[in-house]
Amino acid sequence: MKNILVTGGAGYVGSHVIVSLLEQGYGAVSADNLSNAAPEVYNRLRGLTGKDFAVVDADVCDETALARIIKDYDIWAVIHCAGYKAVPESIGKPLKYYENNLNSTIALCKVMRDAGVTRMVFSSSATVYGSPQFLPITERHPTGNCANPYGTSKVMNEQILTDTVAAYPDWGVVLLRYFNPIGAHPSGQIGDSPKIPLNIMPYLLQVMTGRLPVLPVTGNDYDTPDGTGVRDYLHICDLAEGHVAALKYLETFTGVEAVNLGAGQGTSVLEIVRAMENAIGKPIPTEVRPRRPGDVAAMWADAGKAKELFGWETKRSLEDMCADAWRWASQNPDGY
Ligand code: WQD
Repeated sequence: MKNILVTGGAGYVGSHVIVSLLEQGYGAVSADNLSNAAPEVYNRLRGLTGKDFAVVDADVCDETALARIIKDYDIWAVIHCAGYKAVPESIGKPLKYYENNLNSTIALCKVMRDAGVTRMVFSSSATVYGSPQFLPITERHPTGNCANPYGTSKVMNEQILTDTVAAYPDWGVVLLRYFNPIGAHPSGQIGDSPKIPLNIMPYLLQVMTGRLPVLPVTGNDYDTPDGTGVRDYLHICDLAEGHVAALKYLETFTGVEAVNLGAGQGTSVLEIVRAMENAIGKPIPTEVRPRRPGDVAAMWADAGKAKELFGWETKRSLEDMCADAWRWASQNPDGY
C-alpha cells in the first residue's frame, strides 16, 4: 500500500482528500498544526470511512518534523494542501503569508529530496490567473498580476516547484489549480468550517442557520447575465477525487504539469442562491452591497486537460453541492 502525506489534512480540502485516498486503497498521514482546523475532523474521518490513518501535529515549515514523518511512515508521495488562504488577511499580512506558504513548500522539497521522495500534488488555485484575459481559462492563460499576496504566494510556489523539477528530472509534480470548491461529503460529517466566513458558501450557510441576518451580494453591476459575479463551482468531493487521479497519473509521469480543476461552466451568485433556496425549500434573505475590491466579474475553467491527462471530470451537480453543503451546516451549525 502506498502511503501519502497530506499536509493540511485537517482542513476543508485536506480532509476530503483523505476520504478519497482511503476509499481508493492508499494509506494516509495527515500533518497539520491545527492553526485553522479542529482535531475533531479526524474522529469524523475515521467514523465515516471506517478506516484508520496516521495523524501528526506538525508545522509543515518544520523540516525535522517532516523528515521524521517521511521516514516513519515510508511516504511515497505528498499532497501539499497546508497554507494560509484568507485573501483579505493576506493583503494586511503579506509577510505572514509569504513566510508560511513559501517556507512550507521549500521545507517539504528539501526533505523529499533528502529522502528520495519524488512525487507531489500541489494545492494551487485559479487565483494564479489574475484577471481573466479570455474565457474559459485554459492552463496556457498567463499567470501572475494577482490582486493579493495569497494568490501571488501560489504563483511563487508554482515557480519554486517548476524550478525544483528542472533540477531533479526524476520528480513528478502536478499543480492543481482549484476553481471554487463548495459543498461537503454527503455524510454531513465533514465540511467547510472557517473561523470567519469569507467565501460565499460558508457565508450563505451562516445566513441559513440564523447566525447572520442576510447574504451580502457583493456587486450586481458586473457585465454578467444577471449582474452578479460568475464563478466555476465544483463539488469538494469531485475536487478530492481529482487529487487521487493526479496521484495515479504521477505513478508514470515525471516533470511538472499545471491542471485546472473546475466544472467548466460559470454560475452566478444569484443562481447559487436560487439553487440553495430550491434545496431547502425556503427563501434566503439577500442584500446588494458594493463590489469587493479585487473581485473579477467572471471566471470559469476549461477543464479539458484534467479529462485528457487523468480521465477526471466533475460528476456532481450544483444541486448536489447545495444539498450536501446544507446537510453539513444543518447537522453542524457551529462547525466542528
Ligand atoms: C464568489 C462570488 C463574490 C461572498 C476565493 C479565493 C480563491 C479560491 C476560491 C482558494 C464572488 C460573491 C462572496 C459573499 C458574495 N480559494 N460573494 N457575497 O473570490 O471567487 O475566490 O475562493 O484558492 O483563491 O479568492 O470566491 O466565494 O469569495 O466569491 O456575493 O458574502 O461570490 O463577489 O462573485 P472567489 P468567493
